[in-house]
Amino acid sequence: MSPAVYVSRPLPAPGTEPLRAAGLEVEQHAPDSPPTRDELVAGLQGKQALLCLLTERVDAELLDAAPELRIVANLAVGYDNVDVAAAHERGVVVTNTPDVLTDATAELTWALILAAARRVVEGDTLVRTGQWKGWSPTQLLGASLSGKTLGIFGMGKIGAAVARRARGFAMPVIYTNRTRNVVLEEEIGARAVSFDELLEQSDVLTLHAPATEQTRHAFDAAALARLRSSAVFVNTARGPLVDEAALVDALRERRIAAAGLDVFEREPQLAPGLTELENVVLLPHVGSATIDTRAAMVELACRNVIAVLGGHPPVTPVTR
Ligand code: DGY
Repeated sequence: MSPAVYVSRPLPAPGTEPLRAAGLEVEQHAPDSPPTRDELVAGLQGKQALLCLLTERVDAELLDAAPELRIVANLAVGYDNVDVAAAHERGVVVTNTPDVLTDATAELTWALILAAARRVVEGDTLVRTGQWKGWSPTQLLGASLSGKTLGIFGMGKIGAAVARRARGFAMPVIYTNRTRNVVLEEEIGARAVSFDELLEQSDVLTLHAPATEQTRHAFDAAALARLRSSAVFVNTARGPLVDEAALVDALRERRIAAAGLDVFEREPQLAPGLTELENVVLLPHVGSATIDTRAAMVELACRNVIAVLGGHPPVTPVTR
């Protein structure tokens, strides 16, 4: 019998075609919403691979309920939804989809920086709702970017891609990261700073670190209080890095100027009050949502499944 894969959601092209072409049996959750825990456990029976999304919690209990599983292929670069240690203890390989989504996520980060700084959504609403009465020198004044300091929390591949694009906006870059990125420092003159300096010196602060115990609520009320009142705050990484309720307070009280958010603490729920604020741009976690990028992510996840079920090393394993 061919090895079998459970795919937890309909996928964009090429979909499950690469898996089927490799001779694997595929069972797929049909609705475009996450399977319930019971559906996931039922779907995994007799399956050697799980191709899942960041909406599926893969923990010890789930792994124990799927004893034949050999690989969890997460369709995301982030893998905070997967208990990697528990998987490794059970001999299950975990893979993610790095690199292929770096540029798309960096591009969306800049979309949010520009939209939040220049009040793009407020302007669209004004025009769309017929409230615009003509040009005014005092209308919708936002923040210039040129010459302002871009602060980056987490200088991995996506942080670096955002930093490289800052050259086009003539913005000096400061950053914090677990290790220094000397290559980038030489390439664009980025400067490593302490967390306090990052908070105090950034005109635009953008987050690109994974969600871990160490980064959880790194941006709490105390950290947000150290930002400049003119600061623009952007998060396309993971919601739990930020105390969302504290961010709502800071935005409401204009202790920071604006925010652009693609990720939230308890997706798809939002902190009370967030949608009432005009100085925040909200997106539904679409950092990697381009046609090309999602196709590349699906290809890569499928290649990982095919490699591992074929007895080969995974292409992009998660090692910790
Ligand atoms: C990721 O890859 O981690 C994104 O959040 C989804 O593309």
